[in-house]
Amino acid sequence: MTKITAVKGRRVWDSRGNPTVEVDITLENGLMGRAIAPAGASRGLREAIDLRDGGSALSGKGVDKALASVNGPIAQALTGMDIEDQKALDDAILGLDSSPMKENLGGNATVATSLACLHGAAANAKKALWRHVADTYDCTPALPLPEIQIFGGGAHASGRVDIQDFMIMVPGASSFDEVMEVTNEVYFAAGDIMAQKGKLAGVADEGGWWPMFDSNEEALETLVSAIEKAGEKPGKRVVISLDIAASEFCENGRYRLALEDREMDSSAMIDMLDKWITDYPIAAIEDPVDEGDKEGMIEFTRRFGDKLQIIGDDYLVTNAKLVEQGIADNACNAVLVKVNQAGTVSESVDTFKAAQKAGWGAVVSARSGETEDVSISHLSTGLGCGQLKVGSFTRSERMVKWNECLRIQDELGADTFVGGAPLKNTWWAKQ
Ligand code: PGA
Ligand code: ZN
Repeated sequence: MTKITAVKGRRVWDSRGNPTVEVDITLENGLMGRAIAPAGASRGLREAIDLRDGGSALSGKGVDKALASVNGPIAQALTGMDIEDQKALDDAILGLDSSPMKENLGGNATVATSLACLHGAAANAKKALWRHVADTYDCTPALPLPEIQIFGGGAHASGRVDIQDFMIMVPGASSFDEVMEVTNEVYFAAGDIMAQKGKLAGVADEGGWWPMFDSNEEALETLVSAIEKAGEKPGKRVVISLDIAASEFCENGRYRLALEDREMDSSAMIDMLDKWITDYPIAAIEDPVDEGDKEGMIEFTRRFGDKLQIIGDDYLVTNAKLVEQGIADNACNAVLVKVNQAGTVSESVDTFKAAQKAGWGAVVSARSGETEDVSISHLSTGLGCGQLKVGSFTRSERMVKWNECLRIQDELGADTFVGGAPLKNTWWAKQ
């Protein structure tokens, strides 16, 4: 037993320049843990609420109320508790807020505290965080297969194109290092192509190239050209992954692609994706339909579940019960795990375990508003969940996560890299 002696929240700033919550947990032996809350832009309706101050200052995004939760009730409840019992600590936090989406304390207050406790426990156990996670949750640690954004869109690029993430995966790589090398080549090939077309205009929120395209499909065509220009055969070592984030452009059951002035129902939306899946080497699709379009998600999974990884983000919001429902409905076959959607580490791990039990994939993910916090590199590796999504291949709030995996690789061993295993049920593995 090692007691917590202090819990302190402070205001720091995220990658978009917005205020966010950092928490320090101090232990009786002087050791400590620290973590920072990230922030989403394309948020799921059912995810934990970030408590913001409102008003005109800081665009209403102040975090004084969330800090008051940390330094008030949360600090009071956790001080004196044992750092070695993450579940009890998370339960104590949950006991302070009976609302379904943590709107009283704020998900930003709870996630920073919960993750800081995890860091404190690892320090106390004199273990790297990934090792502590693996030991605590009885998992086999492994370096994940990254999903890396090449073009950013949707809410991360002021709606310049409708689709949110145009990403690559390198399932044919034999090491994490190799993934980084291939990604560098593809990322800069894409930049060269944009420059040649006179369409190079900086980067979007997660570091992917700004999407100066005339249609959503032009982004896909350009991505394939970039993969080829990097000397790769698309669909072999390198595949495409998309986050449609369809909830962002769906209203009353109608999907509206503003860039193309095109509107369709759920079944036409699925047909459009069918054409893309046929024409491009796409191995994974996240949120292909709206978070409320259950029939659409079931239909999409029925049609493509045996060839694609179908990832629920807004649709499942890192909620174990929603994952269990998705398994029962046969909607999706993988879950995106964002700790701040759940609000605590324990709930996030429960979500991962629910998915794993059903043979689903699991992708630990960053948010579009990030910081120097590297907890998710350790979580993904420690849980051995198989995949990690942190945005693109520029901007330090992204690179810090990839680089942390390289440091973990030195301790854990390059041979633990999972390679294409997470895509085992897709056309990529079956070809
Ligand atoms: P967000 O988007 O962090 O802006 O919500 C990330 C995602 O949709 O995966
Ligand atoms: Zn998403």
